[in-house]
Amino acid sequence: MTSFWHPFADMAALEAAGPLTIVRGEGSHIWDTEGNRYLDATAGLWFVNVGHGRRELADAAAAQMSRLAAYHTFGDITNEPTEAVTARVAALAPIEEPKVFLTSGGSDSIDTATKIVRRYWSVRGEPQRTVLIRRERAYHGMHTGGTSLAGIPANAEGYGGLLADVAEAAWDDADALQETIQRIGSGRVAAFFCEPVIGAGGVYPPPPGYLDKARTVCRDAGVLFVADEVIPGFGRCGDWFASGRFGLEPDLITCAKGITSGYIPLGAVIVAPTVWEPFWTPGTGMFRHGYTYSGHATASAVAMANLDIIERERLLERAVQLEASLAAALAPLADHPVVSEVRSGTGVLAAVQIDPERLAADPSLMRRLVPTGRRHGIMSRVLATGALQISPPLVLTDTEVDELASGLRAALDDLEA
Ligand SMILES: Cc1ncc(COP(=O)(O)O)c(C=O)c1O
Repeated sequence: MTSFWHPFADMAALEAAGPLTIVRGEGSHIWDTEGNRYLDATAGLWFVNVGHGRRELADAAAAQMSRLAAYHTFGDITNEPTEAVTARVAALAPIEEPKVFLTSGGSDSIDTATKIVRRYWSVRGEPQRTVLIRRERAYHGMHTGGTSLAGIPANAEGYGGLLADVAEAAWDDADALQETIQRIGSGRVAAFFCEPVIGAGGVYPPPPGYLDKARTVCRDAGVLFVADEVIPGFGRCGDWFASGRFGLEPDLITCAKGITSGYIPLGAVIVAPTVWEPFWTPGTGMFRHGYTYSGHATASAVAMANLDIIERERLLERAVQLEASLAAALAPLADHPVVSEVRSGTGVLAAVQIDPERLAADPSLMRRLVPTGRRHGIMSRVLATGALQISPPLVLTDTEVDELASGLRAALDDLEA
């Protein structure tokens, strides 16, 4: 029996079937202990933007660790890599003159954002503005804040009372968001949390006009707009941030994953001046929030080296190309008998939706999806809707796009048989 309690796992089933041990990665591929090679169709969990096996990132970590691995940053303490990475992220963000609060990952960033927005209204003399609005299908991580904001109902089941004052709006309808705000009373709503492209909830690109309208609704109601860019941040949507691509001008951006391409855990909350200014005003006092590893020197150094690679190798441009070539390569799969839909075309993000009727008729189908893909050299995973997640590294080559599409087709044929 393993001592490792896997995240998001049925441990009884896992003990029966055994784990899959991944030992090596290079570019867009990973290998298991048996020497089997897989195309990493998901970039880990949407994070390995620069691909696997980058010696440069290991070297950056080693150099920083030999000098100063980490020192806390509570109060007045700082370190050079942290100063450098916050300045760099601030300059890249589609927000003028932001401040950057560092965390250890996406869930930390979301919890931090829930506190910043509520505390902001409290400091501004409107402490009754506590309501947080999420969208259906939303995934905002698994800390208490993020679990409370789960638009995937199963993710919030069985935990008793989570955060109070949370409401839900339809994922695709800005009028419904406006009605929700009006029903609650705009004077009670603190913020709207929005993934520009819904990720773990099934990869749903924003319907045309939705984001613009939702942004206007929030602006008109004085509701803060939090763009959860844990997935698209740092290149996946062909810009440093999806907020830039969509002209969102958010009040806060939460991010993680691509900031280090997952080589070391790091997250960030990027905060616009309207929101940070009260915290910089004499008399406000301390924001009593932070993590042991907020401003971790080695994580910051690795982030700097990762951003160097993204810039040097023009991975934003590559993402724009991949957005089109991936969509074109996957589109024919929509006609496959076991597939009901392929969602793609916004960023290096796609979902191959297995026909819900087939899934309902054959409960074993869901269980067979991932292993069948693996047998054909494709490492993917199943999202909440019963779709295969496709979010490869941004270094995916044109040949690997073909490898991905043909491997998926072979796996789907196998499932059909
Ligand atoms: C949109 C979004 N927000 C938050 C998170 C949580 O990030 P983490 O798993 O790093 O805590 C995720 C993770 O996938 C995510 O997709």
